[in-house]
Parts: sequence; C-alpha cells; structure tokens
Amino acid sequence: MTLGALIERTAQRFAGARLRYGHGTDTPRDEAAWLVLRGLGLPFGSELNREASTAEVERIERLAARRIGERMPIAYLLNEAWLAGESFYVDERVIVPRSHIAELLREPFLARRGAARVLYLCTGSGCLAILAARAFVGAQVDAADISTAALAVARKNVARHRLGRRVHLRRSDLFAQLGATRYDLILTNPPYVSARAMEELPPEYRHEPRLALAGGSDGLALVARILAAAAAHLAPDGVLLCEVGDAKAAVQRRFARLQLGWPKPEVFSFENARTAGARRTRPSRAKGAR
Ligand SMILES: C[S@@+](CC[C@H](N)C(=O)[O-])C[C@H]1O[C@@H](n2cnc3c(N)ncnc32)[C@H](O)[C@@H]1O
Repeated sequence: MTLGALIERTAQRFAGARLRYGHGTDTPRDEAAWLVLRGLGLPFGSELNREASTAEVERIERLAARRIGERMPIAYLLNEAWLAGESFYVDERVIVPRSHIAELLREPFLARRGAARVLYLCTGSGCLAILAARAFVGAQVDAADISTAALAVARKNVARHRLGRRVHLRRSDLFAQLGATRYDLILTNPPYVSARAMEELPPEYRHEPRLALAGGSDGLALVARILAAAAAHLAPDGVLLCEVGDAKAAVQRRFARLQLGWPKPEVFSFENARTAGARRTRPSRAKGAR
C-alpha cells in the first residue's frame, strides 16, 4: 500500500468515527496525513507514491485506533505540535498549541513597535514565548506559568530551540511572583473556557489539563485579574495582547469602561494608559476590571 492510499484509508476511518478536530487540523484528511507522515517520521512534503512496509502500516493502524478509541489528539500520540511552521514537544501536561497570537507575532504592527522586554504569561509548552523571542531578536522573554508540570515541558522546548539565554521560565500565579519588572509587551493566552463550555467539552479536549482551560463561570476570571494588574507591569508605552477565543462580546460587556483594541477577533490589546493619554482608560479604571 502506498503512503497516499494509507492516508486515504485512515481519513475514511476518521470521518466514519466522527472525531472532533481543532488541535492543528480541521479535516479528517489533514488529520490522517499528519498521523501517517509524522507517525512514520517522514516530512510533510513526502512522496505519496512511496510504498509503506507492513510494519509501517501496522504502526499507523495502532495509532489510528488510539486516536479513535481514546479520542486522543494526534499531538499527544506523536508528542509533537506545529505552530507557525515550528515543531514543539507536547504531552498531556500542556494544551496542544493553537493560539492566534502566533499569527499576530508575524504582523508588521507588532514588529514596528519593537520590544526589549517581553512577558509571555500562561506560557504552557513555551511555544509562544519561543516564537516571541524569534520575532523580537535580542529581546529578553520571561515565560510564566503556575504549573510546574507545564514548565517542565516548556524547559524541553526552550532547550530544543536553543533559546535558554533569552527565554526565562518563571513559576508564577499570573504576575504575583514576577517582581517589579515592566515589560514592553505582555502576551497571554490564559484559560478562558466558561463553566458551561467546560461541561460540554468534546472528549479530545478533555485530555488537556483542566487548569489550562477553565476560566471560571463566564470564562473571564483570569482575564479580569490580568487586566486589573497589567498597567503596573507594562512599560510606559507597553501593550498587552490577550487571547479570549470567542468571548469577544462577553469581554466587551464585562470591561465596557476599558478601551480595548481588537487586532484579531479572538485577541484584544490593552495599552498602558500613561501613553494612551485621554483617549484611553487610566490604570485606576483597569483596577475596576475585577
Ligand atoms: C490556554 S493554556 C496556554 C498555553 C500556551 N500559551 C499555548 O498557547 O499553547 C493556559 C496556561 O495557563 C496556565 N495557568 C492557569 N492558571 C494560571 C495562573 N493563575 N497563573 C499562571 N498560569 C496559569 C496553565 O497552566 C496553562 O499552561
């Protein structure tokens, strides 16, 4: 059987099993191509007419059976996730990376700002702190998470990407253990799933750490804490970018007094009021975010 035929057969099994996607792919075929090629240690651009050996076919069948039977995301089956064309080590101690902040890091409006000190809050696997270090060459990046288990995964990725001199892992409950450093750019993809959505999570997403997803009753508990403290940790012209998924309307309702930008529908920006002047809300208002 060729690799192409193995991909098609696996895709048909996935389609029949009504899997849920969103951990790096959106369709049964893309999911099958990832499993077959990377499950065999091959690059994505491999020649699909190549014959797969019996052992290779059996390996893919074993992995596909786990994907279907356990609803296990491929990223955990293969211990790899892809973001912005880069590969990262992942396991069930961290969510499978999929943040829209990865795309924002490529956009000129951020590059133009420049940043010498960057904070990635709620860093998980460290993937976005690593991408931020790449985007802002020469910047020092603090990458903070409350979970020691997640930080162990991040340590692996920082070493693999050889960024130990510029990406510094910090265990911290949001800003609490970060001291008085002020950052030019704070990026965060905090837990923001509402209590109701947590109850309805598809099985694939239940393999991810609850600590990484659950954001309290309306999903915005951590977002509120971040907004309340952000101004005290931003440089005078600093900016915070925070991903909130599909909670844009809820954010606009709950933080109606704050002037937030929306560089992407899933990500808002909050600029430090010291440079924002009269146009924007002052830090004391941000405290009202609680
Ligand atoms: C949605 S995940 C984001 C992971 C990573 N940034 C990504 O996009 O792949 C949220 C992360 O926030 C961490 N977290 C949860 N509560 C926290 C807190 N109070 N302080 C710091 N990190 C927290 C979790 O451990 C988890 O790694």
